[in-house]
Amino acid sequence: KTVSLRTERAKRGTVDAPKELRPGYPASRLRRNRRADWSRRLVREMQLTADDLIWPIFVIDGDRSREEVDAMPGVARLSIDLAVRAAEDAAEIGLPAIALFPNTDPSLRDEAGSQAFNPGNLVCRAVRAIKQAVPDLGIVCDVALDPYTSHGHDGLMDDEGRIDNDRSVEALVTQALVQAEAGCDVLAPSDMMDGRVGAIRAALEANGFTDTQIMSYAAKYASAFYGPFRDAVGSGAQLRGDKKTYQMDPANGAEALREVAFDVSEGADMVMVKPGLPYLDVVWRVKEAFGLPTFAYQTSGEYAALVAAAERGWLDRERVVLETLLAFKRAGADGVFSYFAPEVARLLKSQF
Ligand code: PBG
Repeated sequence: KTVSLRTERAKRGTVDAPKELRPGYPASRLRRNRRADWSRRLVREMQLTADDLIWPIFVIDGDRSREEVDAMPGVARLSIDLAVRAAEDAAEIGLPAIALFPNTDPSLRDEAGSQAFNPGNLVCRAVRAIKQAVPDLGIVCDVALDPYTSHGHDGLMDDEGRIDNDRSVEALVTQALVQAEAGCDVLAPSDMMDGRVGAIRAALEANGFTDTQIMSYAAKYASAFYGPFRDAVGSGAQLRGDKKTYQMDPANGAEALREVAFDVSEGADMVMVKPGLPYLDVVWRVKEAFGLPTFAYQTSGEYAALVAAAERGWLDRERVVLETLLAFKRAGADGVFSYFAPEVARLLKSQF
């Protein structure tokens, strides 16, 4: 009613003074700051840059081979020579780090995951080759046995088919040392065994690897979003059962803080929450509670879902990808593992 009155008076050139506004009329207009591009840029809280991204790369044996991953269009397993090129490319476009995931030949997988302890295994050879070619690019390696075990689990199985925590931790320590020795900068235990961060830290210290960083997958959930990844590393088909006895229940939020607290007390330098977008509440809580470098993983399933919708023309790929990555930052993540990393780094570069 007041508005139409005002309109009348405005027509007559006698616009009301604010005191005549009806009670409850907007005390402030949030749209004012949004009215023009310059103003939106001025008040913007978050900025996504290439520095926020870690690019996961899948590695296979061979020479000049590139195998597309099912359910991850645009993502391929690369032989070491091509992985070196990808790493050079990553450095060129300003990405701070890559994460390497080996697809081990099935003939080399066994119950004990013994390839994980071989200093000449695929991932160690890839680390050495990349470190030699691009020494200033950070390299992250998973610490978990799933690319090496015939049962597809991240730890070792006992006779009853249970994952044996303490024997698994011993194995993971050996794997971690082998990877640190190869030149990996950041060890990322993604296995979710209890006590592994402390055991790995102690072994690193004892062996002179005092600079090797640990980024623990502290709050890693038993998620359905890992499907395409398991295909990429070849661990999906043979996975016996599920990972619910070690990965977290998606129903739990407070428990994530306990997981993080343990890993921090055991010597983690950085922590991760995984999956990403459906778990931004956890990212927020972790960052608020601990304030330490906090990362999120935009998983293979999240990648697949976005790419599939974009391929059908249902979503605008560029906009939706940038929006998701910005959302991670807004939730408090210092960085994001994303298969979109090179595409986004290029895009951001072209915008300046
Ligand atoms: C293995 C590991 C997984 C992922 C990273 N490390 C899968 C799993 O735990 O089964 C998932 C990554 C992705 O989905 O992109 N420990």
